This record gives sequence, C-alpha cells and structure tokens, in this order.
Amino acid sequence: MPDTVYLTTPLYYVNAEPHLGHTYTTVVVDTLARYQRAMGRDVFFLTGTDEHGDKIAAAAEKNHASPHEYADRISAIFRSTWDTCGITYDHFIRTTDDYHVAFVREVLQRVYDAGDIYFGDYGGNYCTGCERFYADRELIDGKCPDHETEPVWIKEENYFFRMGKYQDRLRDHLEKHPDLIHPAGYRNEVLGLLREPLEDLCISRPKSRLTWGIEMPFDPNYVTYVWFDALLNYLSGIRHVDAARADQRWAHAQHFIAKDILKPHAVFWPTMLMAAGFPVYQRLNVHGYWNMGESKMSKSLGNVIRPLEMKERFGLDSFRYFLLREMAFGSDASFTEDAFITRFNADLSNGLGNLTSRVLSMQDKYFDGVVQAADGAPQDRALAAAFTQAESAMKSQMEGLAFHLALEEIWKAFNACDKYIVEEAPFKKWKDESAHPRVGAILATLCDALRDAARMIAPFMPETSERIAAMLGRPAGGDTAWDAALSLADAAPKWGEFYPPGHTVGKPEPLFPRLETT
Ligand code: MSP
Repeated sequence: MPDTVYLTTPLYYVNAEPHLGHTYTTVVVDTLARYQRAMGRDVFFLTGTDEHGDKIAAAAEKNHASPHEYADRISAIFRSTWDTCGITYDHFIRTTDDYHVAFVREVLQRVYDAGDIYFGDYGGNYCTGCERFYADRELIDGKCPDHETEPVWIKEENYFFRMGKYQDRLRDHLEKHPDLIHPAGYRNEVLGLLREPLEDLCISRPKSRLTWGIEMPFDPNYVTYVWFDALLNYLSGIRHVDAARADQRWAHAQHFIAKDILKPHAVFWPTMLMAAGFPVYQRLNVHGYWNMGESKMSKSLGNVIRPLEMKERFGLDSFRYFLLREMAFGSDASFTEDAFITRFNADLSNGLGNLTSRVLSMQDKYFDGVVQAADGAPQDRALAAAFTQAESAMKSQMEGLAFHLALEEIWKAFNACDKYIVEEAPFKKWKDESAHPRVGAILATLCDALRDAARMIAPFMPETSERIAAMLGRPAGGDTAWDAALSLADAAPKWGEFYPPGHTVGKPEPLFPRLETT
C-alpha cells in the first residue's frame, strides 16, 4: 500500500480573480503533488473557492449580480485558470456545493448539541477583509495589521463557538507535535497567541444583516459563513469524493497557506476539530507573502500579476520556476519583472535551455541523432555520480519544503554538465577522426544527463520535462521504460544502458529563447 498524502490549498475568496499570490500556493501544492506521485505515493490534492460572506455579497452587488451568479462566475475563472495552468488537483470544491453545506450543518448541530455553541451578545472590532474580530492588542495603530484598514465596531447577538475552552488542549497538542506547524517561526507565533486568553469565536450573522451564508440548523434566523463554513471543506471534500477513504486521507492532511490566515488555521480549525470529534490535521505549512518590489500587490496600485498573462508572455514553466526558485518557503519574497527576466536568462535560457540545445545539436551534427556507445570513462561516471547526488539532495530538500534549494541542487548537476562539456571539448575532439568514438561516448553521457534532467525537473517544470523527453525520443504514445526512467520512485536507469542501439534523438528546439531586458 503506497504512502498516502493529502494536500490542500486555501479556498480562495471569489471577490477577486486569481493573482500571483493564489498562484504561488497552488503551484507549490501542485509541485509537491507531482513530486509525491513521482515518488510512487498515493496523492489527493484539493483546492477550490470560498463563496459565502459579506465580502462576496458586497462584490456581487457592485457588479450588479446576485451573490450566487457572481460566485459562479469567479469560481469558474479560478477553476479554468488552474486548468489552463495544468494544475493537477483531484477535486475542486465550492463552499456553495450541496454536500459541503450539508456537512457544515451536520457539524454545527453536533457541536451545538455537545454544548460548545451558545447564543450571546458581543461587541468587537471586526475586519471584513479578514472576516474576523480583532482584540485591541492585535491591532496596529488601531488598524488591521494585514489590510491596514480600521475595523468596524460590531455589536449584536450571535452564536459563539466555545473556542476558549480548548486553549489548553491546543497548547498541549502543539507541544506534543512539534512539527504540526512549519516553519517553526509560525509555530512560535501561535504559541505566543496562546499565552493570552483565547476568546470564543463568533460564528454567525443575523439574516437581517447577511443572507449569503449557510443557515444555522438550530436557528433559521442566523447564518454561518467564512471560517466555520470554509475550514470544514478540508473534510467535506474528501468525504464527498470517497467516504471510505476519507479517514485514512485525513490522517495525512497537510494544509498549505500564507501567513495571513495563520490564526484561523492554527487556532480556530484545530479547536473546531476537537469540538467536533475529529483528529487534528497532520501538518500546517505556512509560507510568506509576495510583495511587488517594495510594495504590496493591490488592484488599486495596478501592480497585480495574473498567471494567464505570465503564461502568455513567458510560458508557464518559467513562471513556476521563478516562483519556486525565488521564494524561500516561509519567508517573504519580492516580484519584479527585472528579477524574473534575469533569472529566466541566467538559469533557463543560458542554463538548461542552452545545455539541451548544445547536446542535441552536436548529436545531430556528428551522428545524425543516433546515440553511440558509452565507454564508461571515469569522468563520465563522475558526471553520473553528480546527478545521483543532486537527485538525493533534491529529494531531501523537498521533504523539508525547501523548493528553492531543491532547484539549486538540480542546477548544480547542470553546471557540472557545462563544466564537463568544456573539459571534454567534444567539438575539438571531433577534428581528430580517431577520437570520434570518444565524442560518441561523451554525447551518449550527455543524453543520459538530459534524461535525468527531465526526470528531476518534472515536478517543477512539467512541460519542459515532457519537451526534453520528447526531443530525446520518448515515444509519443507513452512507453514503460521511459515512464520508469522519469519516475522518482524507481532507481534512475544506469547511464550507458538506457538507449537501445540505434536510438535516435530529435533535433533541438529552443526551450527558453533569451529575453531582452526592458
Ligand atoms: N477564503 C480564505 C481562506 C479560507 S481557507 C479554508 C482566504 N481567501 S484568499 O482568497 O484571501 O486567499 C488567501 C491565500 O491566498 C493566502 O493564504 C495565500 O495562500 C494566497 N495569497 C494571496 N495573496 C498572497 C500574497 N501576496 N503572497 C502569497 N500568498 C498570498 O483567505
């Protein structure tokens, strides 16, 4: 039975269209899902949209649509964006899906019956951007630290979840599971939050003020929305798709979020799970924020990066590469077009692109594309060893979610190829006819290197991996030997033994034509 892996992205609000921030989390999870599948593990990847609440109702009104119509429209844009970007999610959930609504109501009733939901009166500072109340000590200069806007004072009768009751249990759980929140800095932040008394959580709105939510099963005058609604998707999604496997998947749940929604995921969610009688998720993985140069990304500043525009202009894989290579998971990073172009030219155009085209052009020019016999020279074996080493270092970085270091390890192997080409100088050796068999062996070695390159980059740059494999002569209809060679679960085929005698590789096509800086 292969290891089970269950990966989730946040459910994105449908009040805005997908941008670089949403794309980052989604690409991270997609990369990991592809990596885990290539490692032979059984992966389930859930993403979707969060559709209830004030914010969505307001956005709909502004766009002269009903909340439902509006949510349908924007949710479809998210979904088709991920489809166009080749995101390999297994299920796309919407919080307006019937099965999700039914599950939220079921859990609310259970927690209510157990006495952990009560009706009360509360006044507090509410940030609509975050859809939660803020204690005074959490505000900076009286403003929400994330949205930098003043919260509104809301006082009304509502339903509350007895979150405070679970404070000690949550602290114990965090202490017993030091890996629950990754990286450790965010775990410390949560332990810090738990040093202050934990307030109860307001989970309703009167229908007189908001109708766009899920009706409370025990009171038709109230709806629940946002956190008590959306967080439950992580369970309702897998239960809907395959109820029989849901518990087993849940035991391996790994959530991915940015730091903006740390408290809901690290405090609201585990206490909700405790109250509802479910085990806490396995791991919460928290990344930093993308800024645009020095400033925040925002529609009003006009600096929003859209994934489909990036795909159109530069190709999807280079965008994925940049996102994964530039941000250290957990820390903030900055996006600028200059930084993008610099990396594109250095790592992709001069690096991998140039390596591929040099090897395949020489193979074509000297041997009409036919791969020659290897000769097992020590320097060839040393290059193979550099790839084995890179693959194992890449895997250990992936287990720690250090995507940028995983890529750096792979690129070390490409640099070793460049050095090997300079030292072996096949273009010089070709001038001496007696050295032709050695030139053949050098190129055979390099064709093995390119095959291992396609294998290692596949989770990060799936299209490029496919293109390299196709140029190396992978049959279009699929082929078991190639599948095994590209899977990270199997040992890489031994260099010099993979290509059958007479195997012909294709002519090089440019992978990453150099970009001019503006
Ligand atoms: N709907 C809630 C989440 C509910 S989860 C059960 C929500 N939605 S959101 O649309 O605002 O998405 C927030 C998430 O989008 C972040 O946690 C992160 O995954 C991604 N990002 C949005 N902007 C981002 C950056 N500027 N940088 C990095 N990621 C960010 O919160």
